[in-house]
Amino acid sequence: MDRARVAVLISGRGSNMAALLYAAKADDCPFAICAVLSDKPQAAGLALAAAEGVPTAAIDAKALKAGLWPALEAAIAEANPDYIALAGFMRIIPAGFVERWAGRLVNIHPSLLPKYKGLHTHQSAIDAGDDVTGATVHLVTPEVDSGAILGQVEVAILPGDDAEALDARVLIAEHQLYPRVLAEFVRRAERKQ
Ligand code: GAR
Repeated sequence: MDRARVAVLISGRGSNMAALLYAAKADDCPFAICAVLSDKPQAAGLALAAAEGVPTAAIDAKALKAGLWPALEAAIAEANPDYIALAGFMRIIPAGFVERWAGRLVNIHPSLLPKYKGLHTHQSAIDAGDDVTGATVHLVTPEVDSGAILGQVEVAILPGDDAEALDARVLIAEHQLYPRVLAEFVRRAERKQ
């Protein structure tokens, strides 16, 4: 079976993108990373992806302003993906884009959704006195962080954790969750075809 082509959109560090990219090196992985695209030319993940031989493109959101989305869609069309994985892509996605990719656009979010949508999720979990948080992989819908949940991982909050400590530990869990859930999702979707 041909592997499903996945384009990954990042805005910065790209550690989840790297987790997907290294998972895709396994012989039995059902997806391949066909491109890594960023809305920030300086995103560290771009250099990593390029060094691994993955096509990259930087679409400069600051320079392009309203032209960002047409340029991004052109770069995506060129990469010809079956799925798009958002990995620390810190932008609200326009409804038209979400509709065009409905059911094929996934995101990872650092909380146990539906808890703590948006930013500062770890501080919110600490402030609420929670003893567990985690991460969620979900389908993207026009309403932010609200699409169908594909998979979650729980991470214990330790006494004395601050947002930074929790972020570091949740990130380890994210790196396990995202490749596994994306692989399961792609396998299920390909079986239906
Ligand atoms: C990750 O923790 C991801 O869950 C989060 O940004 C970080 C990106 O790190 N995403 C969101 O908050 C999206 N709402 P990375 O660039 O190293 O993957």
